[in-house]
Amino acid sequence: MGLQTTKEMFAKAYEGGYAIGAFNFNNMEVVQSIARTAAEEKAPFILQASASAIKFAGMAYVIALAKAVEAENPDAVFALHLDHGEDFEICKACVDAGFTSVMFDGSKYPLEENIRRTKEVVDYAHAHGAVVEGELGRLAGVEDDVNVSAEDAMYTDPAEAERFVKETGVDSLAIAIGTSHGAFKFKGEARLRLDILEEVARRLPGFPIVLHGASSVPGYLIDQINAYGGQMDGAKGVPAELLRKAASMAVCKINIDSDIRMAMTAAVRKSFVESPANFDPRKYMGPARDEIRNVVIDKLRNALGASGKA
Ligand code: G3H
Ligand code: 13P
Ligand code: ZN
Repeated sequence: MGLQTTKEMFAKAYEGGYAIGAFNFNNMEVVQSIARTAAEEKAPFILQASASAIKFAGMAYVIALAKAVEAENPDAVFALHLDHGEDFEICKACVDAGFTSVMFDGSKYPLEENIRRTKEVVDYAHAHGAVVEGELGRLAGVEDDVNVSAEDAMYTDPAEAERFVKETGVDSLAIAIGTSHGAFKFKGEARLRLDILEEVARRLPGFPIVLHGASSVPGYLIDQINAYGGQMDGAKGVPAELLRKAASMAVCKINIDSDIRMAMTAAVRKSFVESPANFDPRKYMGPARDEIRNVVIDKLRNALGASGKA
């Protein structure tokens, strides 16, 4: 119970054919909404902060928010994770501050260098009771007009994944199978290379895989944002059914940021248009929390399968 590493959560998720939601946060209202909704659903969860989130909120607030989650609900089963740590220093700073998990994202480096740098983080984190997520392969961007062979080169190579995990000692691995960050993921039909996931799982039995860029970009939120002055035409995410399928395979952690951003933006935009005279932030941050709750419930039940698993 309480703040913990992802070790036990991932072992149970792998065994049970579901995934843990890793939700990005930058402020208190987002944390409250994620933690309280997960408590209602009796679901384990991961709170994750990027380096820019830590810069925005301040490390002391990030840690205090995680402590507040524990204080409000001692039964919460959750981890505090650094998202996309780009060097040893940020990973060390987070481990030292009390994060239970860090990601070292060395995906931009050649394989050998990614292995060397990731292992350095693993050695430090493991010596201090924290776990590490590595990354191999490049997440596609919808703006990248890549031909098929270039696209293939961006996907994770299962043989390299096997070598990477064995040589670094990472606790989980993010792979590229067709997802991408942000709200504009696909021009045509959404497609994931589940065959690559299957081959990675065959080579690394029981090993937890992570999916980044996994927001579903719900149509009702696009419509609400557009209806109240926003511009999100053409936004497209990963359908919940595809995520559920991946979660039933080796994927144990699914990252969600854009959907939460959209929920907050949709609620705030609506409130500003409908109540132009209001200037009490609680009157729009409250609805924003409620809208995030709807997203988190939908994720836990329909995409992750994690409700009732805490
Ligand atoms: O993958 C990146 C996450 O969505 C965090 O984004 O660096 O803007 O906080 P950020
Ligand atoms: P989305 O942009 O799809 O929400 O992905 C978030 C993510 O991968 C954070 O690391
Ligand atoms: Zn990511």
